[in-house]
Amino acid sequence: MGGLSSSCIVLLLVLQASCIAWGSEYNYVDALDKSLMFFEAQRSGKLPQNQRVKWRGDSGLSDGFKQGVDLVGGYYDAGDHVKFGLPMAYSVTMLAWGVIEFRKEIMELDQMGNALAAIKWGADYFIKAHPQPNVLWAQVGDGDSDHYCWERAEDMTTPRTAYKLDTSNHGSDLAGETAAAMAAAAIAFRPYNSSYSDLLLVHSKQLFSFADRFRGLFVDSIPNTKKFYASSGYEDELLWAAAWLYQATREDYYLKYVADNAVSMGGTGWAVKQFSWDNKYAAVQILLSKVLLEGGGGAYTSTLKQYQAKADYFACACQQKNDGYNVPMTAGGLLYINEWNNLQYAASAAFLHAVYSEYLSAANAVLNCPDAQLKPQDLLNFAKSQADYILGKNPKSMSYIVGYGQNYPVHVHHRGASIAPISVLHSPVGCVQGFETWYRLPGKNPNVIYGGLVGGPNKNDEFNDDRANYEQTEPTMSGTAPLLGLFSRLSKINGSPRAGSNHQETPTSNTNSSPS
Ligand SMILES: *[C@@H]1O[C@H](CO)[C@@H](O)[C@H](O)[C@H]1NC(C)=O
Repeated sequence: MGGLSSSCIVLLLVLQASCIAWGSEYNYVDALDKSLMFFEAQRSGKLPQNQRVKWRGDSGLSDGFKQGVDLVGGYYDAGDHVKFGLPMAYSVTMLAWGVIEFRKEIMELDQMGNALAAIKWGADYFIKAHPQPNVLWAQVGDGDSDHYCWERAEDMTTPRTAYKLDTSNHGSDLAGETAAAMAAAAIAFRPYNSSYSDLLLVHSKQLFSFADRFRGLFVDSIPNTKKFYASSGYEDELLWAAAWLYQATREDYYLKYVADNAVSMGGTGWAVKQFSWDNKYAAVQILLSKVLLEGGGGAYTSTLKQYQAKADYFACACQQKNDGYNVPMTAGGLLYINEWNNLQYAASAAFLHAVYSEYLSAANAVLNCPDAQLKPQDLLNFAKSQADYILGKNPKSMSYIVGYGQNYPVHVHHRGASIAPISVLHSPVGCVQGFETWYRLPGKNPNVIYGGLVGGPNKNDEFNDDRANYEQTEPTMSGTAPLLGLFSRLSKINGSPRAGSNHQETPTSNTNSSPS
């Protein structure tokens, strides 16, 4: 493949010279703008005046009330209406990491207001969900009964059961990830609103000690979630939370924690080839490599070097330079980890390469793989290869970001996107009626859910744009979140198109204060 994108071809006719000078076929600026719109489409609760995604209305306005707690807000996970704590927190961590690493790029693109708004929508919910130091509301909605219906969020009739963690119902994975999200968000917000940043840090520290003191997997406390987001372990989240708290506070306690527990929690033992809402080892190892590369290892330098060795393993394996122990790749050039929602792994791996490339570059360092020595630019090129595949450089010439380019999925597995909006269809759409009238509709979805990264193709680079094919056509928060950092970094590649998007324009963002 590798042809010019069709928008470029159109422009080529008029503007040949400038198109060639672009040097990149893909408009990362447009893709970035759209990926942030996806987070607006996933908002639960009372929507603000400046909501750009107009087909969504207020929903979930009494979440938590039966349980005597205000859990209004937060995000719907994917094509359904459950507010799953683990992927929501992971997504906020990834958005915040993008802002932290690529603050300058995001500012230059005038997207800081939208980026902070996306983080805050999650972080405000986590504040509500954490009413006492040792209480964390883990989930609203029940996966089974929610999936039984196909309705708009605004019409929801399914039970909004809420589940909580406390000193007798442990969940170190979920509490740890939420602590990480709030620490990362605290750093992201610090230049804009220090009191909000401080507030997030208080919650983060409390959640970390709750997670650390009352150890366990949250699925053992909330068996209902087992089928959906069962984490395979909580040790990675404890290390992850501590690593983020160290970034946010620079308190020795947290760096000592990751060093003291490096062996017992697998931080320096696990060499993994994937990063997702479940497994954070590779990200922990890369984030701690930053501390080392910045020369801040102090007494922990030798342990941090062991962390970095595993970070290198991950990067070498993704780049097929790991003495045969590589991540599988499709013929079209996509990392291939899983049949279901494979693109989430490609997006997160690309993001990690973009940040690791920055860390190495700042330290004037290289990556020594068993099969080659790689430069920071090589890591960035790899990140670009996965991003470009996502945007259309693939055997199907398909964009897997909804609404980007000319050829993208139109039968997206998403309740809200697949049913006509309230503004058009005023009467409620019932649980079963939704399936009959809308889910089985042969035509395309009535609403374009801009920016959602769908599950994507299979191991043969094949993709079937069918609403029932949720493994490939469902967009998720956790898949889309790493794209903020990834696209903002790629937008800086020399000659990338800086032109804005062709859909309704972003309101001017105010980067001096936190968005509402
Ligand atoms: C900063 O955050 C605080 C605490 O959440 C909030 O009350 C205040 O309105 C924010 N300030 C600005 C300028 O947005």
